[in-house]
Amino acid sequence: EKAGYKHFMGKEIAEQPVVLADALRHYLPQTGLNMPEELDFSNIDRISLVACGTAFYACSVAKYWFESFARIPVEIDVASEFRYREPPLSERGMTIFVSQSGETADTLAALRYCHEKVAKTVAVVNVPTSSIAREVDIALPIMAGVEIGVASTKAFTAQLLVLAVMALKAGRDRDQLDGPDLACHCDTLRSLPGLMNTALALDAPIAELAEHLAEAQDILFLGRGPMYPLALEGALKLKEISYIHAEGYASGELKHGPIALIDRTVPVIVMAPFDRLFDKTVSNMQEVMARHGMVLLASDAKGLKAAQDGTWAQLQLPEIAEPFAPILYAVPAQLLAYHTAVAKGTDVDQPRNLAKSVTVE
Ligand code: F6R
Repeated sequence: EKAGYKHFMGKEIAEQPVVLADALRHYLPQTGLNMPEELDFSNIDRISLVACGTAFYACSVAKYWFESFARIPVEIDVASEFRYREPPLSERGMTIFVSQSGETADTLAALRYCHEKVAKTVAVVNVPTSSIAREVDIALPIMAGVEIGVASTKAFTAQLLVLAVMALKAGRDRDQLDGPDLACHCDTLRSLPGLMNTALALDAPIAELAEHLAEAQDILFLGRGPMYPLALEGALKLKEISYIHAEGYASGELKHGPIALIDRTVPVIVMAPFDRLFDKTVSNMQEVMARHGMVLLASDAKGLKAAQDGTWAQLQLPEIAEPFAPILYAVPAQLLAYHTAVAKGTDVDQPRNLAKSVTVE
Protein backbone atom coordinates (compact mmCIF):
# COMPACT_ATOMS: atom_id res chain seq x y z
CA GLU A 1 0.00 0.00 0.00
CA LYS A 2 3.06 2.22 -0.10
CA ALA A 3 2.55 2.21 -3.86
CA GLY A 4 6.24 1.80 -4.64
CA TYR A 5 7.44 4.32 -2.04
CA LYS A 6 9.87 3.29 0.70
CA HIS A 7 7.89 5.06 3.38
CA PHE A 8 4.35 6.28 3.89
CA MET A 9 5.78 9.73 4.50
CA GLY A 10 7.38 9.79 1.03
CA LYS A 11 4.10 8.68 -0.51
CA GLU A 12 2.10 11.25 1.41
CA ILE A 13 4.45 14.07 0.42
CA ALA A 14 4.11 13.06 -3.22
CA GLU A 15 0.32 12.86 -2.97
CA GLN A 16 -0.09 16.52 -2.14
CA PRO A 17 -0.90 17.84 -5.63
CA VAL A 18 -3.76 15.33 -5.87
CA VAL A 19 -4.93 15.99 -2.31
CA LEU A 20 -5.00 19.74 -2.89
CA ALA A 21 -6.73 19.31 -6.26
CA ASP A 22 -9.49 17.31 -4.52
CA ALA A 23 -9.92 19.89 -1.77
CA LEU A 24 -9.92 22.69 -4.36
CA ARG A 25 -12.63 20.97 -6.39
CA HIS A 26 -14.77 20.95 -3.27
CA TYR A 27 -14.03 24.31 -1.66
CA LEU A 28 -13.14 26.40 -4.68
CA PRO A 29 -15.11 25.22 -7.72
CA GLN A 30 -15.17 27.48 -10.79
CA THR A 31 -18.42 28.96 -9.48
CA GLY A 32 -16.55 30.50 -6.51
CA LEU A 33 -16.06 29.86 -2.80
CA ASN A 34 -17.97 26.85 -1.52
CA MET A 35 -18.26 27.11 2.25
CA PRO A 36 -21.25 26.36 4.50
CA GLU A 37 -23.82 29.17 4.70
CA GLU A 38 -23.63 29.20 8.54
CA LEU A 39 -19.92 30.01 8.40
CA ASP A 40 -20.55 33.73 8.44
CA PHE A 41 -17.83 36.13 9.49
CA SER A 42 -19.77 39.39 9.16
CA ASN A 43 -20.56 39.81 12.86
CA ILE A 44 -17.54 38.10 14.34
CA ASP A 45 -15.32 40.38 16.44
CA ARG A 46 -12.33 38.08 16.86
CA ILE A 47 -11.04 34.68 15.88
CA SER A 48 -9.11 32.27 18.07
CA LEU A 49 -7.22 29.49 16.32
CA VAL A 50 -6.29 26.57 18.59
CA ALA A 51 -4.34 23.38 17.84
CA CYS A 52 -1.20 21.36 18.67
CA GLY A 53 2.04 20.71 16.80
CA THR A 54 1.94 20.94 13.04
CA ALA A 55 -1.75 21.88 13.10
CA PHE A 56 -0.78 24.82 15.33
CA TYR A 57 1.70 25.99 12.69
CA ALA A 58 -1.11 25.84 10.11
CA CYS A 59 -3.07 28.14 12.47
CA SER A 60 -0.05 30.42 12.75
CA VAL A 61 0.08 30.86 8.96
CA ALA A 62 -3.69 31.39 8.83
CA LYS A 63 -3.44 34.27 11.30
CA TYR A 64 -1.63 36.29 8.60
CA TRP A 65 -4.40 35.51 6.13
CA PHE A 66 -7.37 36.32 8.35
CA GLU A 67 -5.76 39.56 9.45
CA SER A 68 -4.78 40.72 6.00
CA PHE A 69 -7.82 39.58 3.98
CA ALA A 70 -10.54 40.25 6.57
CA ARG A 71 -8.94 42.67 9.07
CA ILE A 72 -10.20 40.58 12.01
CA PRO A 73 -8.08 40.40 15.17
CA VAL A 74 -6.75 36.85 15.49
CA GLU A 75 -5.33 35.06 18.48
CA ILE A 76 -3.45 31.78 18.07
CA ASP A 77 -2.67 29.36 20.84
CA VAL A 78 -1.46 25.85 21.49
CA ALA A 79 -4.34 23.89 22.97
CA SER A 80 -2.46 22.82 26.12
CA GLU A 81 -1.94 26.49 27.07
CA PHE A 82 -5.34 27.73 25.94
CA ARG A 83 -7.33 25.19 27.97
CA TYR A 84 -5.68 25.87 31.30
CA ARG A 85 -5.32 29.59 30.85
CA GLU A 86 -9.09 29.83 30.62
CA PRO A 87 -8.89 32.89 28.38
CA PRO A 88 -11.72 35.41 28.31
CA LEU A 89 -13.72 34.90 25.14
CA SER A 90 -16.09 37.11 23.21
CA GLU A 91 -19.74 36.18 22.64
CA ARG A 92 -19.18 37.43 19.13
CA GLY A 93 -16.01 35.40 18.74
CA MET A 94 -15.29 32.37 16.59
CA THR A 95 -12.91 29.62 17.71
CA ILE A 96 -11.37 27.42 15.06
CA PHE A 97 -9.81 24.08 16.05
CA VAL A 98 -7.43 22.43 13.62
CA SER A 99 -6.65 18.74 14.01
CA GLN A 100 -5.72 15.97 11.61
CA SER A 101 -6.99 13.17 13.87
CA GLY A 102 -9.79 15.13 15.50
CA GLU A 103 -8.97 13.25 18.72
CA THR A 104 -6.09 15.24 20.25
CA ALA A 105 -6.89 15.44 23.98
CA ASP A 106 -5.79 19.02 24.56
CA THR A 107 -7.55 20.33 21.46
CA LEU A 108 -10.76 18.55 22.41
CA ALA A 109 -10.58 19.96 25.95
CA ALA A 110 -10.00 23.45 24.54
CA LEU A 111 -13.11 23.01 22.38
CA ARG A 112 -15.18 21.91 25.39
CA TYR A 113 -14.03 25.01 27.24
CA CYS A 114 -15.42 27.20 24.42
CA HIS A 115 -18.89 25.66 24.22
CA GLU A 116 -21.54 28.27 25.06
CA LYS A 117 -18.89 30.99 25.38
CA VAL A 118 -18.43 31.97 21.73
CA ALA A 119 -20.72 32.59 18.78
CA LYS A 120 -19.37 29.68 16.71
CA THR A 121 -17.00 26.78 17.07
CA VAL A 122 -15.47 25.47 13.87
CA ALA A 123 -13.20 22.49 13.21
CA VAL A 124 -10.80 21.88 10.35
CA VAL A 125 -10.27 18.12 10.55
CA ASN A 126 -9.17 15.18 8.46
CA VAL A 127 -11.29 12.54 10.19
CA PRO A 128 -14.93 13.63 9.74
CA THR A 129 -16.25 11.12 12.30
CA SER A 130 -13.84 12.25 15.03
CA SER A 131 -14.78 13.65 18.45
CA ILE A 132 -13.74 17.19 17.52
CA ALA A 133 -15.73 17.08 14.28
CA ARG A 134 -18.81 15.86 16.15
CA GLU A 135 -18.67 18.45 18.92
CA VAL A 136 -18.28 21.67 16.91
CA ASP A 137 -20.98 23.79 15.31
CA ILE A 138 -19.35 23.52 11.87
CA ALA A 139 -16.84 20.87 10.76
CA LEU A 140 -14.85 21.41 7.58
CA PRO A 141 -13.16 18.24 6.33
CA ILE A 142 -9.74 18.68 4.70
CA MET A 143 -10.27 15.53 2.61
CA ALA A 144 -6.61 14.53 2.65
CA GLY A 145 -7.30 10.79 2.94
CA VAL A 146 -5.74 8.59 5.62
CA GLU A 147 -2.38 9.88 6.82
CA ILE A 148 -0.18 7.07 8.13
CA GLY A 149 3.27 8.62 8.57
CA VAL A 150 3.51 10.00 12.11
CA ALA A 151 5.00 13.22 10.75
CA SER A 152 2.12 15.18 9.28
CA THR A 153 2.62 16.30 5.67
CA LYS A 154 -0.39 16.23 3.36
CA ALA A 155 -2.72 17.04 6.25
CA PHE A 156 -0.71 20.23 6.89
CA THR A 157 -1.00 21.57 3.34
CA ALA A 158 -4.67 20.54 3.13
CA GLN A 159 -5.34 22.34 6.45
CA LEU A 160 -3.66 25.41 5.00
CA LEU A 161 -5.77 25.26 1.89
CA VAL A 162 -9.06 25.06 3.81
CA LEU A 163 -7.96 27.86 6.14
CA ALA A 164 -6.99 29.98 3.12
CA VAL A 165 -10.44 29.59 1.57
CA MET A 166 -12.03 30.41 4.96
CA ALA A 167 -9.92 33.58 5.21
CA LEU A 168 -11.01 34.62 1.70
CA LYS A 169 -14.63 34.04 2.69
CA ALA A 170 -14.07 36.15 5.81
CA GLY A 171 -12.63 38.94 3.65
CA ARG A 172 -15.66 38.80 1.36
CA ASP A 173 -18.21 38.60 4.21
CA ARG A 174 -16.66 41.72 5.74
CA ASP A 175 -16.28 43.66 2.50
CA GLN A 176 -12.54 43.82 2.88
CA LEU A 177 -11.69 42.03 -0.37
CA ASP A 178 -12.90 43.40 -3.68
CA GLY A 179 -13.89 41.15 -6.56
CA PRO A 180 -10.63 41.36 -8.54
CA ASP A 181 -8.45 40.70 -5.48
CA LEU A 182 -10.60 37.78 -4.45
CA ALA A 183 -10.47 36.33 -7.98
CA CYS A 184 -6.72 36.73 -8.06
CA HIS A 185 -6.26 34.89 -4.73
CA CYS A 186 -8.58 32.11 -5.93
CA ASP A 187 -6.50 31.72 -9.08
CA THR A 188 -3.32 31.44 -7.02
CA LEU A 189 -4.87 28.72 -4.85
CA ARG A 190 -6.06 26.87 -7.95
CA SER A 191 -2.53 26.94 -9.37
CA LEU A 192 -1.10 25.14 -6.33
CA PRO A 193 -1.36 21.51 -7.52
CA GLY A 194 0.70 22.37 -10.62
CA LEU A 195 3.24 24.41 -8.66
CA MET A 196 3.57 21.62 -6.11
CA ASN A 197 4.36 19.15 -8.86
CA THR A 198 7.22 21.41 -9.90
CA ALA A 199 8.40 21.62 -6.28
CA LEU A 200 8.33 17.82 -5.99
CA ALA A 201 10.92 17.65 -8.77
CA LEU A 202 13.39 18.98 -6.15
CA ASP A 203 13.35 15.52 -4.58
CA ALA A 204 16.69 14.42 -6.07
CA PRO A 205 18.68 17.61 -5.36
CA ILE A 206 17.27 17.69 -1.84
CA ALA A 207 18.29 14.07 -1.26
CA GLU A 208 21.86 15.12 -2.15
CA LEU A 209 21.85 18.11 0.21
CA ALA A 210 20.42 15.89 2.93
CA GLU A 211 23.60 13.81 2.95
CA HIS A 212 25.36 16.92 4.31
CA LEU A 213 22.53 18.04 6.58
CA ALA A 214 22.56 14.60 8.21
CA GLU A 215 26.01 15.42 9.63
CA ALA A 216 24.81 18.55 11.43
CA GLN A 217 24.19 18.85 15.18
CA ASP A 218 21.92 21.87 14.90
CA ILE A 219 19.98 23.35 12.00
CA LEU A 220 18.16 26.68 11.91
CA PHE A 221 15.21 27.68 9.73
CA LEU A 222 14.46 31.33 9.01
CA GLY A 223 11.41 32.99 7.49
CA ARG A 224 9.49 36.25 7.58
CA GLY A 225 5.78 37.06 7.40
CA PRO A 226 3.72 33.97 6.62
CA MET A 227 6.99 32.10 5.99
CA TYR A 228 7.93 32.44 9.66
CA PRO A 229 5.49 29.75 10.84
CA LEU A 230 6.68 27.61 7.95
CA ALA A 231 10.22 27.91 9.36
CA LEU A 232 8.83 26.59 12.67
CA GLU A 233 7.14 23.72 10.85
CA GLY A 234 10.31 22.89 8.90
CA ALA A 235 12.26 22.69 12.16
CA LEU A 236 9.60 20.52 13.84
CA LYS A 237 9.48 18.12 10.90
CA LEU A 238 13.26 17.79 10.84
CA LYS A 239 13.67 17.22 14.56
CA GLU A 240 10.87 14.71 14.91
CA ILE A 241 12.11 12.30 12.27
CA SER A 242 15.88 12.91 12.01
CA TYR A 243 16.46 13.69 15.73
CA ILE A 244 18.70 16.59 14.73
CA HIS A 245 18.19 19.64 16.90
CA ALA A 246 16.42 22.27 14.81
CA GLU A 247 14.80 25.62 15.54
CA GLY A 248 12.78 28.01 13.47
CA TYR A 249 13.07 31.77 13.93
CA ALA A 250 11.52 34.87 12.50
CA SER A 251 14.39 36.29 10.41
CA GLY A 252 14.22 39.59 12.25
CA GLU A 253 14.71 37.87 15.62
CA LEU A 254 18.10 36.47 14.64
CA LYS A 255 20.11 39.33 16.04
CA HIS A 256 18.21 39.17 19.32
CA GLY A 257 19.93 35.97 20.39
CA PRO A 258 20.04 33.02 18.01
CA ILE A 259 22.86 34.51 15.93
CA ALA A 260 25.15 33.50 18.80
CA LEU A 261 24.71 29.89 17.64
CA ILE A 262 26.06 30.47 14.13
CA ASP A 263 29.40 29.04 13.06
CA ARG A 264 30.63 27.08 10.04
CA THR A 265 29.04 23.85 11.24
CA VAL A 266 25.48 25.22 11.41
CA PRO A 267 23.28 24.94 8.34
CA VAL A 268 20.74 27.76 8.12
CA ILE A 269 17.78 27.15 5.85
CA VAL A 270 16.28 30.39 4.61
CA MET A 271 12.79 30.20 3.13
CA ALA A 272 12.46 33.42 1.18
CA PRO A 273 10.29 33.93 -1.88
CA PHE A 274 11.02 37.16 -3.75
CA ASP A 275 8.33 39.19 -1.99
CA ARG A 276 7.85 42.53 -0.25
CA LEU A 277 10.14 41.56 2.62
CA PHE A 278 12.78 39.76 0.59
CA ASP A 279 15.48 42.40 1.05
CA LYS A 280 15.03 42.35 4.81
CA THR A 281 15.45 38.60 4.90
CA VAL A 282 18.50 38.80 2.67
CA SER A 283 20.19 41.19 5.06
CA ASN A 284 19.55 38.72 7.91
CA MET A 285 20.97 35.97 5.71
CA GLN A 286 24.09 38.05 5.08
CA GLU A 287 24.59 38.38 8.81
CA VAL A 288 24.62 34.58 8.97
CA MET A 289 27.11 34.31 6.11
CA ALA A 290 29.39 36.90 7.72
CA ARG A 291 29.66 34.42 10.61
CA HIS A 292 30.36 31.55 8.19
CA GLY A 293 26.97 29.85 8.61
CA MET A 294 26.10 27.47 5.74
CA VAL A 295 23.09 29.07 4.10
CA LEU A 296 20.63 27.02 2.07
CA LEU A 297 18.44 29.54 0.24
CA ALA A 298 15.02 28.38 -0.95
CA SER A 299 13.57 31.04 -3.23
CA ASP A 300 12.33 31.61 -6.77
CA ALA A 301 14.31 32.55 -9.90
CA LYS A 302 14.25 36.28 -9.08
CA GLY A 303 15.27 35.74 -5.48
CA LEU A 304 18.14 33.42 -6.33
CA LYS A 305 19.40 35.77 -9.00
CA ALA A 306 19.41 38.63 -6.52
CA ALA A 307 20.87 36.89 -3.49
CA GLN A 308 22.50 33.53 -4.05
CA ASP A 309 26.10 34.82 -3.89
CA GLY A 310 27.90 33.28 -0.98
CA THR A 311 25.18 30.77 -0.15
CA TRP A 312 26.10 27.13 0.37
CA ALA A 313 23.15 25.73 -1.59
CA GLN A 314 20.05 26.86 -3.41
CA LEU A 315 16.61 25.45 -4.10
CA GLN A 316 14.57 27.05 -6.85
CA LEU A 317 10.80 27.07 -6.40
CA PRO A 318 8.30 28.43 -8.90
CA GLU A 319 7.01 31.96 -8.31
CA ILE A 320 3.84 32.26 -6.27
CA ALA A 321 1.88 35.25 -4.95
CA GLU A 322 3.13 36.14 -1.49
CA PRO A 323 0.36 35.11 0.91
CA PHE A 324 0.23 31.49 -0.23
CA ALA A 325 3.96 30.78 -0.53
CA PRO A 326 3.97 28.73 2.72
CA ILE A 327 1.74 26.09 1.10
CA LEU A 328 4.22 25.63 -1.74
CA TYR A 329 7.39 25.88 0.38
CA ALA A 330 6.02 23.19 2.71
CA VAL A 331 7.10 20.70 0.04
CA PRO A 332 10.87 21.40 0.19
CA ALA A 333 10.64 21.69 4.00
CA GLN A 334 9.10 18.22 4.17
CA LEU A 335 11.54 16.74 1.65
CA LEU A 336 14.52 18.16 3.58
CA ALA A 337 13.29 16.47 6.77
CA TYR A 338 12.45 13.26 4.97
CA HIS A 339 15.74 12.83 3.14
CA THR A 340 17.82 13.86 6.15
CA ALA A 341 16.08 11.17 8.19
CA VAL A 342 16.58 8.63 5.41
CA ALA A 343 20.29 9.57 5.24
CA LYS A 344 20.55 9.03 9.00
CA GLY A 345 18.71 5.73 8.79
CA THR A 346 16.03 6.56 11.35
CA ASP A 347 12.54 5.07 11.38
CA VAL A 348 10.83 7.70 9.23
CA ASP A 349 7.23 6.55 9.57
CA GLN A 350 7.41 5.62 13.25
CA PRO A 351 9.83 8.03 14.93
CA ARG A 352 10.83 7.21 18.50
CA ASN A 353 8.68 8.54 21.35
CA LEU A 354 5.90 9.82 19.06
CA ALA A 355 2.33 8.66 18.47
CA LYS A 356 0.12 9.54 15.52
CA SER A 357 -2.77 10.55 17.68
CA VAL A 358 -2.17 12.09 21.11
CA THR A 359 -5.29 11.18 23.05
CA VAL A 360 -3.73 11.69 26.48
CA GLU A 361 -2.38 15.03 27.68
C1 F6R B 1 3.92 16.69 13.62
C2 F6R B 1 2.72 16.05 14.12
C3 F6R B 1 2.12 16.53 15.41
C4 F6R B 1 0.61 16.74 15.23
C5 F6R B 1 -0.05 17.11 16.56
C6 F6R B 1 -1.52 17.43 16.40
O1 F6R B 1 4.32 16.17 12.41
O2 F6R B 1 2.20 15.18 13.49
O3 F6R B 1 2.74 17.69 15.85
O4 F6R B 1 0.44 17.74 14.27
O5 F6R B 1 0.10 16.05 17.47
O6 F6R B 1 -2.24 16.31 15.94
P1 F6R B 1 -3.68 16.47 15.34
O7 F6R B 1 -3.58 17.28 14.13
O8 F6R B 1 -4.15 15.07 15.06
O9 F6R B 1 -4.53 17.16 16.38
